[in-house]
Amino acid sequence: MRLENIKLDVDFVKSQFPAFEHPLSKDWSFFENAGGSYVPKNVINRLTEFMVSTKVQPYAEYPMSKIAGENMDLAIELFAKMINAKKKEILIGGSTSINLYILSNALKKFVQHGDEIIVTNQDHEANISPWRKLKSSGAIIKEWKFNIDNHELELEDLEELISEKTKILAVTHCSNIVGSINNLKKICKLAHSKNIIVIGDGVSYAPHGFPDVKELDVDFYTFSLYKTYGPHLGLLYGKEEIIKELPNQNHEFLEGNYPYTINPGGPNHEELVSLIGIYEYFNKLYDHHYGKDENSIQKKIKKINNLISSHEEIIANPILEYIFKRDDLYLIGKNEIKDKNRAPTISFFSKNMSSKDISNKLLKEKIATRNDNFYAWRCLNALGLNTEDGVVRLSLVHYNSLKDSSNVINALNKI
Ligand SMILES: Cc1ncc(COP(=O)(O)O)c(C=O)c1O
Repeated sequence: MRLENIKLDVDFVKSQFPAFEHPLSKDWSFFENAGGSYVPKNVINRLTEFMVSTKVQPYAEYPMSKIAGENMDLAIELFAKMINAKKKEILIGGSTSINLYILSNALKKFVQHGDEIIVTNQDHEANISPWRKLKSSGAIIKEWKFNIDNHELELEDLEELISEKTKILAVTHCSNIVGSINNLKKICKLAHSKNIIVIGDGVSYAPHGFPDVKELDVDFYTFSLYKTYGPHLGLLYGKEEIIKELPNQNHEFLEGNYPYTINPGGPNHEELVSLIGIYEYFNKLYDHHYGKDENSIQKKIKKINNLISSHEEIIANPILEYIFKRDDLYLIGKNEIKDKNRAPTISFFSKNMSSKDISNKLLKEKIATRNDNFYAWRCLNALGLNTEDGVVRLSLVHYNSLKDSSNVINALNKI
C-alpha cells in the first residue's frame, strides 16, 4: 500500500476513547466537539496516575514531589515540540478567555493614546472583548467585518483598515461559526510589514491539526486544550522576543522569569500532567498508521494532520452538501471542504423553525448537538440572527465516522 493511500482507522481511533463504550454516551452521535471533545485513555491514565501517586506540592526532592514536578515540565516541553515552539514560549492557563485577558493586560504596555487595535466580528468574544477594553487605555478600536455575502474575512478589507497607528490585530484562525480557515500566515505577513502584533485564536483550528506556530509566524497563538482531547486548560504561545518584554504580572520576586511573569496563577497541576497523554495519543495514532520510526514529533504531527483532514473531508462533505441543498435551511460558510479550506464545524439555521426546535428534534434522534450563539454573538448579529436562539452547530472531529454523518442526515430528513 502506498503511504499516501493510508486512511484514518476510525475504529482504532474510537477504541482509544472510553466515552464510545460508556453506557451514557455510547449510543449517541457526538456533534458538540467544538464545545469540548472527549479524551483518550492516555489522558485519563495520566490524570489518574498523578492523583494516586504524585498529588503533592511539586519540585521538592522526595520522589512523589520530584516526579510531579518533572512531569509538569515534561508536559510543557512536549507541547512546545508539538507546535514547534520553545519551552519558554508556552504558557498554560485556565482557559483561552483568561489567557487572552491577561495577555491584553500585559500588551497595554505597547499601546499609546491614539494607537489603533483591529478586531474582527467573526471571532469568538474571547479574542474581541479583551482588546476592545483597551479603549480605556486610549486605544482606538477598528472592526474588520466579514463579507456578509460569503461570511469570509477579506484581506483587502484588512489592508484598508491598517494605518501607521495600528499596533495590534486580533483575528481568528478559524471561526467557531463560519468554519472557514483564515490564511493566518498571509495575515501575519501583511501585519508584520507594518510592525503590527498579531494574536491568532486557534481554538477552532487546533482540534483538526496542531499548528506549526513558527511557520505561521504569528506573535501570539491560543487554543483550548479541552477541545484538543485534553482537560479544561488553555495554551498560550508567544514569541520569546515579545514575551520577555512584557511586564511582570506575577509576584515581584519573579521579575524576569518569563513566561511565568504573565500569569499570576499557574495551571492546575494534575491537568497539566495529563497533557502528556495527548502527546502519547498522537504518537500512538502515528505508530498505528505509519509504524514506529524516529521521525520528530513535528513531522509526525504533520502526517497525522493530513490523515485527519482527509477523513474530516469525507465525513463532513455529505452533511454540508445535504444542508446546502435544503431550501428551508441556511448554511453558514463554505458548502464544501476542499484543500483544508474549512473545518468541519457546521452552523446553520432554518428559515421557518427555531434553532432550539431543530436541536431538540435532533436530540430525540440521539444526535448530541445544541443551539446557541457560541459566544460569537457579533458574528450572529452581523448575520441578523437572534443571538438567544442562535444557530444549530454540528461540529465534527476525527473520531466521528461516516455512520455519524448518515445518522445526522437521517435525523434532519425527519424534520
Ligand atoms: C473560537 C473560540 N475562541 C475562544 C474560545 C474560548 O475558549 P475558553 O473556553 O477556553 O475560554 C472558544 C470557546 O468555545 C472558541 O470556540
